Amino acid sequence: MYTSAPTDKPAAKAWTVPMLADAKRDGRKLVMLTAYDASFARTMDAVGIELVLVGDSLGMVVQGQNSTLPVTTADMAYHTACVARGLSKALLISDLPFQSDATPERALDAATQLLQAGAAMVKLEGAGHKLEVIRFLVEREIPVCAHLGLTPQSVLRLGGYKLQGRDDATAAKLRADARAVAEAGATLLVLECVPTGLAAAITADLAIPTIGIGAGPQCDGQVLVLHDLLGVNSGHRRPKFVKDFLAESGSVAGAFQAYADAVRSGAFPDAAHSYD
Ligand code: KIV
Repeated sequence: MYTSAPTDKPAAKAWTVPMLADAKRDGRKLVMLTAYDASFARTMDAVGIELVLVGDSLGMVVQGQNSTLPVTTADMAYHTACVARGLSKALLISDLPFQSDATPERALDAATQLLQAGAAMVKLEGAGHKLEVIRFLVEREIPVCAHLGLTPQSVLRLGGYKLQGRDDATAAKLRADARAVAEAGATLLVLECVPTGLAAAITADLAIPTIGIGAGPQCDGQVLVLHDLLGVNSGHRRPKFVKDFLAESGSVAGAFQAYADAVRSGAFPDAAHSYD
């Protein structure tokens, strides 16, 4: 029979959805990374990364596509199930891929598949008609993470992967959208590629935590794509906010730990990895 060895250390608690708002209230930074398989997920879990995201970035960094648009719900469910097998403490979030959230009913079907594969929350991009989708999912017991700023599923309309909210009008719109997704019931908000000051204002406006990627140090947490953090060339342009933590750590677990420490201490992202 197998028993666990006695230890002085209390076992870390598994992260739950209500703990995210507690972390913001207590001023504790949240650390998020993307993962697509069980082995990297297990390493993230072991170093105490709180949030693991199966991003639809898998289209670009795993499948070798030019955008996230070709990713399907079946792809997301497969990788979500793989990652779930590697986690025991981190909270698992999974992206609703392109157009799987075009209507509330479609979103409910896709989100159900992702939760049944092991996710505890789904992430979706945008506000506007997505507010109805967020309300519909939350009323049906599906926790939602919203995603604003640079929303990669909008790449055709945006004409590329560019900084968002640069002028007063677009900044005011982003700020209003952030309030609206929180009011619709989102539990978490990813802010991608927005100026530091705007992300700080949105973070101060909301009771729910913001997770930044290219959004400056004043968000309530940070996320990076696994391949970017490890300096793996996925064939795409490296944005300014990306930092290779493997180069200075020498091991994958060391890179995850260095990233987590830098986020928790406020050292990452610095001005060189943020936008004015
Ligand atoms: O798909 C993804 O990996 C994401 C992160 C960049 C936030 O949405």
